[in-house]
Amino acid sequence: KIPLLIDTDPGVDDALALLMAFADDRHDVVGLTVAAGNVGLEHTVRNALKLCEVAGRMDVPVFAGAPEPLVHPAEDAAHVHGVDGFGDVGLPLASHTVSDEHAALAIIRLSHEHAGKLFLVALGPLTNVALALKLDPSLPTRIKRVLVMGGAFSAHGNITPAAEFNIAVDPEAAHIVFTAFPMVEVADWEATLAHGLLHTDVMAWLDADTDKARFYELISRKTRLWSEDSRGERWYAADALAMAWALEPESVTRVESRPLVVEMAGTHTRGATIVDWNRQSGRSDNAQLLIGYDQRRFEARVRSALGLN
Ligand code: BDR
Ligand code: CA
Repeated sequence: KIPLLIDTDPGVDDALALLMAFADDRHDVVGLTVAAGNVGLEHTVRNALKLCEVAGRMDVPVFAGAPEPLVHPAEDAAHVHGVDGFGDVGLPLASHTVSDEHAALAIIRLSHEHAGKLFLVALGPLTNVALALKLDPSLPTRIKRVLVMGGAFSAHGNITPAAEFNIAVDPEAAHIVFTAFPMVEVADWEATLAHGLLHTDVMAWLDADTDKARFYELISRKTRLWSEDSRGERWYAADALAMAWALEPESVTRVESRPLVVEMAGTHTRGATIVDWNRQSGRSDNAQLLIGYDQRRFEARVRSALGLN
């Protein structure tokens, strides 16, 4: 099996992505490193522990990372995910416990333990991965594949007109990641918009008689209502789409390679991902951009994450 390390800030769509990863039989989740992002670190850590419990994977270690971005103060997305990040439904605490090791150190250690094989998927602000790269610049030589949910390739942002949340929260960290790895696979917000899930379908899946569907119905209720009010008939599960690509790359219908940089200054564009579509910069391609994914396969992955056939 392919060893899979997930850096995450759960978060309702992170939760679906994690259930998807745990349900996959070709990948083995070797750890969750937890970032602050959708909500503060104390909540994202608690939610990651809960997810392991719900998935029946208390053997998977959970590592807490940096409580805030590298340079600028944190912004959260509690208005989307709830103050506790899981829809404020009063979930009981998990019996799983957080490991002592810092997330950045765990990324480095696991890269040695699975040298040449490790697959790193990042679903939140990239603070932990950037810290690991600064502590050990040789990290990319031991990582086989790295995939990030983040960015808005044509400046159709979700947190500002130009920027997507994960990159906008910690643009310096994103810059470190995109300059350190020779090639990063990136699933952006615009790919998410092109692969929305109909609320009517999602509601039918969540009606299923499985523990995971019941759990997910509960934690996603608030965010689905918010999404229906503000975004219409489709729900956009960014991290779940990124994870479907990670787990099942053969179902991609279109990917483009291009140079990509992150705007760290900018009056209106801090956190924007600038894709050199016309190759005008002279830089080498450093990103594989997700454009299209087989929608039926994505939806099949969501259903199996929820315990449906
Ligand atoms: C990303 O931001 C977060 O709110 C989601 O969990 C996802 O990782 C989408 O922009
Ligand atoms: Ca996330």
